[in-house]
Amino acid sequence: MGVQLFGADPERLGEAARQVIDWVSPDFIDINFGCPANKVVCRNGGSSLLRDRPLLERVADAVVKACAPLPVTAKIRIGWDANSVNAVETARLLEGVGVTRIAVHGRTRAQGYSGNADWEVIAAVARSVSVPVIGNGDISCAEDALLRRQCGVSGLMIGRAAMSNPWIFTEIKCAFAGEPYSPPTLADRWEFILRHAREETARRGELHGMRGMRGRLMAYTRGLPGGRHLRGELAGVSTLAALEELGRSHLEGVASGALQQVAV
Ligand SMILES: Cc1cc2nc3c(=O)[nH]c(=O)nc-3n(C[C@H](O)[C@H](O)[C@H](O)COP(=O)(O)O)c2cc1C
Repeated sequence: MGVQLFGADPERLGEAARQVIDWVSPDFIDINFGCPANKVVCRNGGSSLLRDRPLLERVADAVVKACAPLPVTAKIRIGWDANSVNAVETARLLEGVGVTRIAVHGRTRAQGYSGNADWEVIAAVARSVSVPVIGNGDISCAEDALLRRQCGVSGLMIGRAAMSNPWIFTEIKCAFAGEPYSPPTLADRWEFILRHAREETARRGELHGMRGMRGRLMAYTRGLPGGRHLRGELAGVSTLAALEELGRSHLEGVASGALQQVAV
C-alpha cells in the first residue's frame, strides 16, 4: 500500500511524508504531479509543477531524502499543455533524484480527461529512463491492456474502468496468461456491491457510509440490465436494507425476464 501526497513546499512535503510513514507504515510514498483539479493546481500542487520543473525536482528530492530508505514513486502527466509536453525531461529529473518508479498518465493537464491518452509519449518515457515506468490512460478492457503492454512499460495503471468494473484486473491477468476469463454473473455483482456497502456502513455508520457509496453504486451499475431505471432508484436509497431490497428485486426482475440481460 502506498500513500500519495501532493504539494509544492519541499520541506513541508518531506515532513508530511515522514509523518505519514510513522502513522500508517506504507510500503511506499507516491508524489502526485498529475492532478489537474483547480483546487490542487491553484496551490501549485499536482500537475502545476510540470510548469516549474526546478521546483518539481526540489519537491521530489526533499521527499526522497525524508523517506529514505522507503521508496518514493511519482505520478505525472505528459505535460501542462500540448505546447509543453515534457514527460521525458520530467521523468529524467525524477529518476535523477532517486524516484524508484514513475507512472505516466498520457494526457496533458489542459486535456483534463478529454481526448485520448498519448501512448507514444508514454513509450518515449519508458525508453528514456531505467526505472520502471507504469503507463496509464484509457485502458478499459483486456484488449487495451494487451495492446498497451507493447509500449515497453513495466506496468499498467487503470483508473476509471476499475470504478465500474473492478474485475478488470482479473480479466487482464487471464488475458496475459492466455487463460479463459469468466465474467462475474449478475448475482456475483450484487454480492460484491452489497459487501462493499456493508463494509462501508460498518466503517462509517449508515448515514455517511451510504452517502459515500452513492458514486460507487452509480459506477457499479453501469451496463447492468435496466441500469438507467436502477440508477434512478439508487439515487433515493439511504439505508443498507433498502439497497439489499433493491438488489433482490433487480435480480428477480432479470431472472423473470422483466428486465433483459445484457452483456456488461
Ligand atoms: C474521480 C477520479 C479521481 C482521481 N484521483 C486521483 C488521485 O487521487 N491520484 C492520482 O494519481 N490520480 C487520480 N486520478 C487519475 C487516475 O489515476 C488516472 O490517471 C486517470 O483516470 C487516467 O486513467 P484511466 O483512463 O484509466 O481512468 C483520478 C481520476 C478520477 C476519474
